[in-house]
Amino acid sequence: MASFSNAVGCLATAILLLGAASVFAQTYDPMAAARKPARSLLGAENAAAPNPEFGGLPDSAGAEETFYQCTACHSTEIIKQQHLTDARWDYLWDWMVKEQGMVEPDEETKELILSYLKGNFSAGP
Ligand code: HEC
Repeated sequence: MASFSNAVGCLATAILLLGAASVFAQTYDPMAAARKPARSLLGAENAAAPNPEFGGLPDSAGAEETFYQCTACHSTEIIKQQHLTDARWDYLWDWMVKEQGMVEPDEETKELILSYLKGNFSAGP
């Protein structure tokens, strides 16, 4: 329960930082606080706070691009629950394009999203 309280504390701080409760209310994700303690088990480099504006994806470079690329078809939940390998993310990208008809962005954006996914949701190479 201690870590849950911490998460609630962080959330409260986030609300204060936003300084606009109405903006927060529109994007409030009731699961964000509950998931946060689990994230911290992944290690310091993965400790970016979930951004409610981007479906609760960890707020680091590439979060916005990933959100817009990937939520055309499904929510961010399917991404956040993964602990895949880097190779599996490469495979899944191709699968999403070939089998699901995902429209590929330019090469630079693709690299940004893939390194974001590997940086935040990978168990290793
Ligand atoms: C064109 C539609 C589409 C887009 C865009 C899309 N996906 Fe998917 N994705 C799917 C479908 C359909 C499934 C299968 C869902 C199911 O099994 O219920 C899926 C499943 C997944 C899975 C689960 C795979 C597994 O092994 O169970 C992950 C992870 C995933 N997508 C990640 C992403 C990421 C990351 C992006 C953005 C780079 C993305 N998706 C963009 C359609 C899409």
